[in-house]
Amino acid sequence: MDESIIITFANQKGGVGKTTLCVTFANYLVKKGLPVIVIDCDSQESLAQRRESDLKRYPSGDTAIPYEVLPFSLNKEEALFGFIGNIRKTRCVAIFDSPGNLKQQGLVTLFANSDYIICPYHYDRTTIPSTATFIAFLQKLKNVMAGKMNARLILVPNRHDARVGRRSELMLWEETRETFSRYGLVTPKINSRADMERFCTLSDLDGQLEVTQAAFDTIFKEIFGHIEADTENG
Ligand SMILES: Nc1ncnc2c1ncn2[C@@H]1O[C@H](COP(=O)(O)OP(=O)(O)O)[C@@H](O)[C@H]1O
Ligand SMILES: [Mg+2]
Repeated sequence: MDESIIITFANQKGGVGKTTLCVTFANYLVKKGLPVIVIDCDSQESLAQRRESDLKRYPSGDTAIPYEVLPFSLNKEEALFGFIGNIRKTRCVAIFDSPGNLKQQGLVTLFANSDYIICPYHYDRTTIPSTATFIAFLQKLKNVMAGKMNARLILVPNRHDARVGRRSELMLWEETRETFSRYGLVTPKINSRADMERFCTLSDLDGQLEVTQAAFDTIFKEIFGHIEADTENG
């Protein structure tokens, strides 16, 4: 890795799993042996405080801390450029958790500087239109940035409940997947499971790897597939 890879979890819709998947994906990458840093840009969520409490709750003794969790306020837009510049130089996978509010200062700068935007969503009547609006927003932003914004969009159907859904709804969901596929990579679904209702910034909790594996493996291959191939060749 010559430069850090910047990944931002985003969707204007709240409650889709941005924060949960940000942390579980960080844990997943650490297991893969990659250097990771998590940047918490959502002041309402405070992953930085979560790390403190995780350390108290799960005392790990001598075990090394898997990755740093840094709080960063997007309000300091001027500082954001310098911050991202420094992150780039650290040669790690930098994962940003972002707030849902699109009016948040600095968010556009963050999107424009991301290599990947991972957008979780789920199938319900308000989340699908809201996610579609968000995808359209990113498209417009890309047009305005005229080649300066290169983020690849990855869409993650999360909180899937296989027990619900009439035939008509199931068809609608498949159509949504097809439509969204025109704008980015849509991963396999992540099921709605009690195992995902909690997370820990030190390691996966029981069952989380299994629930997220298919989706995370797809993301991993998308981001690092060519890097692995490069290493094998050289
Ligand atoms: N796959 C899942 N299964 C069950 N609950 C989930 C799943 N993903 C997220 N959740 C729950 O959904 C809620 C919203 O998740 P969160 O990560 O806080 O979303 P966001 O950051 O987008 O607002 C939380 O209560 C979380 O525990
Ligand atoms: Mg959140």
